[in-house]
Amino acid sequence: MAKKKTPEDLRSFRWYGVQDLRSFGHRSRAKQMGYDENDFGGKPVIAIINTWSDINPCHSHFPQRVEEIKRGVYQAGGFPVELPAMSLSEPYVKPTTMMYRNFLAMETEELIRSHPIDGVVLLGGCDKTTPAMIMGAVSMDLPSIYVPAGPMLRGNWRGETLGSGSDTWKYWAELRAGNITEEDWGEIEGGIARSPGTCMTMGTAATMMSLAEALGMTLPGASSIPAPDSNHSRMAAASGRRIVDMVWEDLKPTDILTAAAFDNAIAVDMALGGSTNAIVHLVAMARRAGIDLSIDRFDEISEEVPVLANIRPSGKYLMEDFYYAGGLRGLMSVMKDHLDFSCITVNGQSLGDNQGDAGVYQDDVIRSPENAVSKVGSTAVLRGNLAPDGAVIKASAAEPDLWSHEGPAVVFADYNDMAARIDDPDLEVTAESVLVLKHAGPLGGPGMPEWGQLPLPKKLLEQGVRDMVRISDARMSGTSYGTCVLHVSPESFVGGPLALVEEGDIIQLDVEKRILELKVSDEELARRKAAWVQPKPVYPRGFGAMYAAHVTQAHLGCDFDYLETGDEAVPEPEIH
Ligand code: FES
Repeated sequence: MAKKKTPEDLRSFRWYGVQDLRSFGHRSRAKQMGYDENDFGGKPVIAIINTWSDINPCHSHFPQRVEEIKRGVYQAGGFPVELPAMSLSEPYVKPTTMMYRNFLAMETEELIRSHPIDGVVLLGGCDKTTPAMIMGAVSMDLPSIYVPAGPMLRGNWRGETLGSGSDTWKYWAELRAGNITEEDWGEIEGGIARSPGTCMTMGTAATMMSLAEALGMTLPGASSIPAPDSNHSRMAAASGRRIVDMVWEDLKPTDILTAAAFDNAIAVDMALGGSTNAIVHLVAMARRAGIDLSIDRFDEISEEVPVLANIRPSGKYLMEDFYYAGGLRGLMSVMKDHLDFSCITVNGQSLGDNQGDAGVYQDDVIRSPENAVSKVGSTAVLRGNLAPDGAVIKASAAEPDLWSHEGPAVVFADYNDMAARIDDPDLEVTAESVLVLKHAGPLGGPGMPEWGQLPLPKKLLEQGVRDMVRISDARMSGTSYGTCVLHVSPESFVGGPLALVEEGDIIQLDVEKRILELKVSDEELARRKAAWVQPKPVYPRGFGAMYAAHVTQAHLGCDFDYLETGDEAVPEPEIH
């Protein structure tokens, strides 16, 4: 691609290149740090937005990756500057990282806007960091490339492979059922996460990193490389080299993130058996790019694309196996008919050009459509009087016997109520019951926590029950499994129909017909709605209060209403 920009066209030229009082200050302060014109003069200034912190285990290799990205930037004639951003460590941030996804998106956007930046390397991976950083980068729309953290290595316990999340839930249930000891449980704790990198099941992190690549925001093949692999270091350096050229070419996120690119990402999401969280994130990302992506688009594509990646929780293997089997490009090679290979990507080539000779090396890990893991797509969008604006189920991780089910509701008013009563021997519940959790949505959680995989009552676990229909306005970890209806919209906290469900009400789920219905008359629901009382806001002040005032519902992506891209551009900062 021909160069479109000259050094005088660079955004950073306004800080470093002109001759006035302010630029004197910018140059003298760069010199204070030991740099001179050979470093910053007329070169693209590249921000490396780094979500490393001492409390994010998934990003513990980032200090080394930053040095490798800088090496690439220098090699290509750029000037790298590292800008730390909120780390959003999934295991530690409470009440949920989802409450802070938009915070990181704002931070990303404003870090870029307020500094002398020409191009951006986004360094993330742990669940919300991928959508957050891309959302911020799209809104700012300077050349940007995503460097995914990569998955950690397989877990191990006494020679048995362990997968993040999935095996935590599995062995927690076995411990509660009395099938493993506390000592076994302790050994599993020490073996389930044994290298830097993100969760290595097809959770939200692996899903979103893969979708960033499918969207065209990473170098080809980047998302599947395990974090400790030396190929990951070389990919980081190559991304550093590439972003410098992207600045000269003026290749921006909105050139890449088209409606066709989002369709590609949704198709890949279905073939991966990706996390249900991807729906909320892709909708929010698309809306930042000015594309009104509806959750119904997921359902349309889901009808056509089978699950091909045999990765937990929908399948058997882990991300390390996926990489050896050919990785994301291998997967895309067996689903060509569902992709628009003409979409442009960050390296200036099309998605199709980047395929090269990609293929599949282990056909049990990446299946052909004829031998799909599941013939139906991984995610279904349900509607009915219980979810007028939609709800979501990961059918590929649910028990097929429960896809069509009617049962009486066992209702929990909120998470604490559920935690207090779920194991009560007197709880009136059977395997046919439908567990309902209220107040777990964007406002009710708040932050729409990953509570949607409600634990099964202990007395049913002891009877051998391993799955039940569960319904909430919460999200679910991508590493979870079970017949969990999620993202019910509108949520119960704002008076959605979920708020009106009472103990014993019959609920109908039909995944194939896409139905979620509360078998209660309209008159009775109207009577209950009239008696319903709006709960008090959770946060009286601070970020939580701002969040509550502006977050949108799940089917709209849970972005802040004022962050969605409108017609008017935010002005560039004045430099006085
Ligand atoms: Fe970071 Fe799962 S905890 S990706």
